[in-house]
Amino acid sequence: METILERRGDGIALVRINRPEARNALNPAVREQLAAHFHDLAAGEEVRCAVIAGSDKVFAAGADIKAMAEASPSEMMRRPDVWVAIRAFPKPLIAAVNGWALGGGCELALHADIIVAGESARFGQPEIKVGIMPGAGGTQRLTRAIGKYKAMKILLTGEPVTAREAEALGFVTEVVPDAEVLDRALALAKSIAALPPVAARKIKEVVLHGADMPLEAALLLERQAFQLMFDTADQKEGMAAFIEKRAPQFRGR
Ligand code: HXC
Repeated sequence: METILERRGDGIALVRINRPEARNALNPAVREQLAAHFHDLAAGEEVRCAVIAGSDKVFAAGADIKAMAEASPSEMMRRPDVWVAIRAFPKPLIAAVNGWALGGGCELALHADIIVAGESARFGQPEIKVGIMPGAGGTQRLTRAIGKYKAMKILLTGEPVTAREAEALGFVTEVVPDAEVLDRALALAKSIAALPPVAARKIKEVVLHGADMPLEAALLLERQAFQLMFDTADQKEGMAAFIEKRAPQFRGR
């Protein structure tokens, strides 16, 4: 299989891209499998936080150039939109990035809520160098994350940035030694998965949807989601545990 889904207990799932011979390029099989995995992981309550990773050497080198070099516009249009399942994934998603995250690979990382990168990781949108442009959110997510003038340089030159540069720009959350990337991402996932899942989902929902709204509407969305938390057993438990000076037992209700 070009991708591997591991349910690792503790409410965590790990999705790995496994196409090293093509630098984890996102061919139709990889994209369809990723969409299916995220669709499965969205359902049910067992998994509370997911991690997406490539291999030790490469996260993903982008869309598979060989699989689209001869494509016509209508062929490209007929290809199923495999990004929608990842975009709609309602639970926290962490990208663990080692090596190259280029083109659609960088855009895949930008779908995550938190990005942990190794010191040697490199991020870029080199589409312009092969005569195209980003097509899975690069022009939009990157610009919204780091601003027009920094995003334009990455998009228009196609030149990669280092993990440290990406962290300083604000689209990498943490940079850690290469060998520690996956462990750090899984540890973060474990700590998030131990927290109330309804609150986690609502935080993600409000951050993502609120970003597209006028401030007053976004604040209202936040306020209503905040009020809804008081309908959860985990709110009662979390606050009772604090008052009683004991560890909370969250049940996801
Ligand atoms: C298809 C790819 C590929 C890709 C690498 N390979 N990237 N095949 N699509 N995106 C293949 C190579 O052809 C080669 O196959 C093998 O993987 C090893 O690649 P090398 O270049 O020899 O490896 P290396 O020297 O380690 O360089 C790694 C690399 C480089 C820096 C990642 O491969 C690279 O620049 N790749 C292209 C990156 C890119 O332009 N991405 C944007 C794609 S467009 P053979 O058969 O020769 O061994 C895109 C649009 C997104 O992503 C739109 C979303 C909808």
